[in-house]
Amino acid sequence: MSQSDRVVIFDTTLRDGEQCPGATMTFEDKLATAVMLDEMGVDIIEAGFPIASEGDFEAVSAIARQCKRATVAGLARAIEGDIVRAGQAVRHARQPRIHTFVSTSPIHLAHQMRKTEDEVLAIITRTVAQARDLVADVEWSAMDATRTPVDYLCRCVDAAIKAGATTINLPDTVGYALPDEYRAMFREVRERVPNADKAVFSVHCHNDLGLAVANSIAGLEGGARQIECTINGIGERAGNAALEEVVMALKTRQDSLPYTTGVDATWLTRASKQVSAVTAFPVQFNKAIVGRNAFAHESGIHQDGMLKNASTYEIMTPESVGVSKTSLVMGKHSGRHAFKEKLKELGYELGDNALQDAFKRFKDLADKKRHVYDEDLVALVDEEIGQGHDRIKLQALTVIAGTLAQTATLTLDVDGVHHTRQGVGNGPVDAIFGTIRAIVPHEAELDLFQIHAVTGGSDAQAEVSIRLKHDNRSATARGADPDTLVACARAYVAALNKLTGRQKASVEIEA
Ligand code: KIV
Ligand code: ZN
Repeated sequence: MSQSDRVVIFDTTLRDGEQCPGATMTFEDKLATAVMLDEMGVDIIEAGFPIASEGDFEAVSAIARQCKRATVAGLARAIEGDIVRAGQAVRHARQPRIHTFVSTSPIHLAHQMRKTEDEVLAIITRTVAQARDLVADVEWSAMDATRTPVDYLCRCVDAAIKAGATTINLPDTVGYALPDEYRAMFREVRERVPNADKAVFSVHCHNDLGLAVANSIAGLEGGARQIECTINGIGERAGNAALEEVVMALKTRQDSLPYTTGVDATWLTRASKQVSAVTAFPVQFNKAIVGRNAFAHESGIHQDGMLKNASTYEIMTPESVGVSKTSLVMGKHSGRHAFKEKLKELGYELGDNALQDAFKRFKDLADKKRHVYDEDLVALVDEEIGQGHDRIKLQALTVIAGTLAQTATLTLDVDGVHHTRQGVGNGPVDAIFGTIRAIVPHEAELDLFQIHAVTGGSDAQAEVSIRLKHDNRSATARGADPDTLVACARAYVAALNKLTGRQKASVEIEA
């Protein structure tokens, strides 16, 4: 396979993904996600839009410093201030990239930009050259490329390459293109622009018609060699092309798609879970590659075939995308060593203190639950990792539910001091959240509240996701426990810890 068959994977989970409603991530979530993307072999991480806010700028800078392998890109409109800010944010990356874009379609020029074609051409030349003065690696995107007449698109691409762009991205911004059209657009632009071979061409597809992955692959056939995508396909409106689907389509269909990527596919399941957890965007059960049913065989005929030979109904193995066979974990008599080894197998290496805390919780869980599965451990450890050095910790909870007034009696440890309160509410969950609010007064509002069972069975752990929002900030966190109400309290406290960050939590002193 020649070098030209290597496809660059450009992940924009932290930019296009994060900008969609409800997917806001905290600084820590972004950093952890970027580290994961770097480790799994993503080539380019678009870390954010530095001009958008101080928080975005700081996150992009921190990611730029932290990533060991990947190029780190910052997005900038075709505006001088944006480009300067993006350059500052990525400058400490091993390989910094500025990604600048401008609309090129007649609809955008007339209604959004109110500029002529010639004015936009001049903007492209000026802003790409400005970015090139700051970094050697500049990507230029023609926003709404798929609704741009190809003659004008060629002139824009020509101007961008002449000004120094090293990557040319032709996005299907509104998810309108069909695969044949998208393939043909790349072929034509690459044929007609004289210096097209000086740049790598890139696809960026939105999923409004459910064609983002198909279009991305068609773009490769048209000569593109970079795919912009997101974990779980999160992104504006119907989302972007899903990274896991792109990677596995290329891997599984080598017979007709002779391309390689640098992504280690065994990370895909974990990456999906991580992004789903920090955004609280659930992954649909039948989602390709990472949905919980993606490798489940239900019908009798399928099960019969699978027992005889897995290739009858499986085009890729669950292990190839990092799904470990659901197995019984040790019981309550298992020791620390076995627990540590099991966590290693699941991809976790905890420090001594975190391991000790997780082990204690595992023992408590094994006391309550007959079978402890890998999924139970993942939920427990993810929550433990999320907690870090939290200032507020749940110590004890008793709830009266049912037809009487629903009451919660709650003890929180806040900065090492125990506070106990009792409160009533409209239902037990409301009583718990109200009591937390009484102990630690805060103005944040509950923005999302989700519960699901980690495994099957009526003794399954409940995993609760909570998002709290205050002003422009929001924080999402999870809590897991066999008792659904305890899981609710854990999740709320975890979200509050994340939202208040390192600030000292103010406590309502009891009279
Ligand atoms: O969809 C789009 O056109 C974009 C650009 C900023 C690349 O996200
Ligand atoms: Zn986009």
